Amino acid sequence: MDSQIYGALNLIMFFLAAINVNSLPQHVLPKSTSTQISSNSVLVALLDSHYTELSELVEKALLLQTLEQAVTQHNITIFAPSNEALERQMDPEFKRFLLEPRNLKSLQNLLMYHMIPARVGSNDWPREGTDSAHHNTLCVDESESDNRLMLSKGNSGEKIVGGVARVVRPDDVIRPDGLIHGIERLLVPQSVQEDFNRRRNLGSISAVLPEGAPVVDPRTHRLKNSKSLKKPVTPGSPPALPVYDAMAPGPSLAPAPAPGPGGARHHFDGESQVKDFIHTLLHYGGYNELADILVNLTSLATEMGKLVSEGYVLTVLAPNDEAMAKLTTDQLSDPGAPEQIMYYHIIPEYQTEESMYNSVRRFGKVQYDTLRLPHKVAAEEADGSVKFGQGEETAYLFDPDIYTDGRISVQGIDGVLFPVGSLEGKVVAPATAPKVVTKQRRGKLMEIGCTITGAFGQSC
Ligand SMILES: *[C@@H]1O[C@H](CO)[C@@H](O)[C@H](O)[C@H]1NC(C)=O
Ligand SMILES: *[C@@H]1O[C@H](CO)[C@@H](O)[C@H](O)[C@H]1NC(C)=O
Repeated sequence: MDSQIYGALNLIMFFLAAINVNSLPQHVLPKSTSTQISSNSVLVALLDSHYTELSELVEKALLLQTLEQAVTQHNITIFAPSNEALERQMDPEFKRFLLEPRNLKSLQNLLMYHMIPARVGSNDWPREGTDSAHHNTLCVDESESDNRLMLSKGNSGEKIVGGVARVVRPDDVIRPDGLIHGIERLLVPQSVQEDFNRRRNLGSISAVLPEGAPVVDPRTHRLKNSKSLKKPVTPGSPPALPVYDAMAPGPSLAPAPAPGPGGARHHFDGESQVKDFIHTLLHYGGYNELADILVNLTSLATEMGKLVSEGYVLTVLAPNDEAMAKLTTDQLSDPGAPEQIMYYHIIPEYQTEESMYNSVRRFGKVQYDTLRLPHKVAAEEADGSVKFGQGEETAYLFDPDIYTDGRISVQGIDGVLFPVGSLEGKVVAPATAPKVVTKQRRGKLMEIGCTITGAFGQSC
C-alpha cells in the first residue's frame, strides 16, 4: 500500500506543475492537443453517473482537462458526495463562495481533495483494528499539509473517508483507469475552510465603504457637513442618517425634531413599491386584515413609501388574518393603536427568510430594531423556523418571502407581536410621546398620547 503511495508521489510532483498551468480559467486548449480519453474512462463514467452535482462542479471548476491528463498517467479513485449532500446539506453561503469566479482555486482544491491518484478499491481498505491509511490527494495547496486523506474503518466496520464521511456506495463505478466510491457528505480541506472564513470576514468589512463617518449635528439632527449631502450619491447607496431621523415625528417615534434628510435623493419609487406589496398581500390571501389596515392607515403607507424613496429598506412582519382576528376591538379601537402595532412589526433592515433563519441558527437569539423606538423584537430558531417575540406573545415565520423586491421584504407570521412589558397585550395604550415635536402631523393623536402618558406619570 505504502509503496503504491510513494510511487504516486512522483506523479504528484508532476501534477503540481500540470495543475497549476491547466487550472487557469483562461487556459482553454483545443481538444486536439490534449490527450485522447478512452470512452471507458472513469471520467466519462463520472459525467454519465448519478453524481450529477459533482460532475457539474468538476466542469465549473474547469478541471476536466487536468483530470483527463491524470488518468493517462495513473488510476484515480474518486470519492463522490451524493447529490443530496451537495444540494441540500451544503451551507448555501459556502456554496455561493465556491461558485464565485475569484474563488476558483478553492473550488478546484475542494474537488481535487476528493480524488486519490491511485486505485483504491474497497478491498484495499485498511482492515479493522489496523491503523488507518493516509493517501495523498490531487488537491494541490501551498501548505501541502492539507492534501492527505485518511481512510479508516468505523466501529461497526463501515468505511470512513477523511474521518467524517461514510462510504455509502463502495465501488459504485469501476473502470480500467479508476473507480468511484459514493460518500455521504462533502469533504472540506482545511485550506478551503480557511479561505472561506477569510473571504467572509473581508466581505463583511468591505461591504462598508471606507469613508469618514458622517457627523450628525446634535442640535439640528442633520448632517454637519452639508457638502456630503449635496455630493451626488450613487443610486442604491444606503442613506447616511439612521432611519429614525428620516421618519416623521409621531407619538411613538424617536425625538426627531426635524424632518429627515429628504430632498433630492428620490432614487426609488417608494410609494408604488408599497402599493405593490399591499396588492401582493391581497393576492396572496390570508392577509386581508393587514392589507386593510395599511390601506386605511394612509399615513403609515405614506411614511413607508417615503422611507423607501429615500433609500431606506424595510422588512414587514405581517401577521396573518387568524392572528389579527385574535386582537380585541379594544386593542385596535384606540386612535393610534393600529399604527403602534404596525410600527412594531417593521424592521428597518432588508431581511429575507433565509437571512433571518441563518442568523438565528448561527447566533441563537437575535434582536431586530423596529420602527417603534426603542423597542426591539427578539427572534430565535424554533422547530426549524424563526420564532419572533418573547414570553406569551410569540409568532412563527409562517409564510416566507411573500414579497421581496430588494427594498421591502414581507414575511408572514402567525401572531401579533407586542413589545416585552408593554401593557398593550392586555390594555391598549399608545406609548410615550416625544419631548419635542416641531411638526404636529398627528395633533389629535398627540393629545391622546399625552393624556394617556400623563396618566402614567410622564410629562408631555
Ligand atoms: C490502472 O490500474 C489497472 C489495474 O491495477 C492497471 O492495469 C492499469 O495499468 C492502471 N492504469 C494506469 C494508467 O496506470
Ligand atoms: C378600513 O376602512 C373600511 C372603510 O372605511 C372599513 O370598512 C374597514 O373596517 C377598515 N378596516 C380596518 C381594519 O380598520
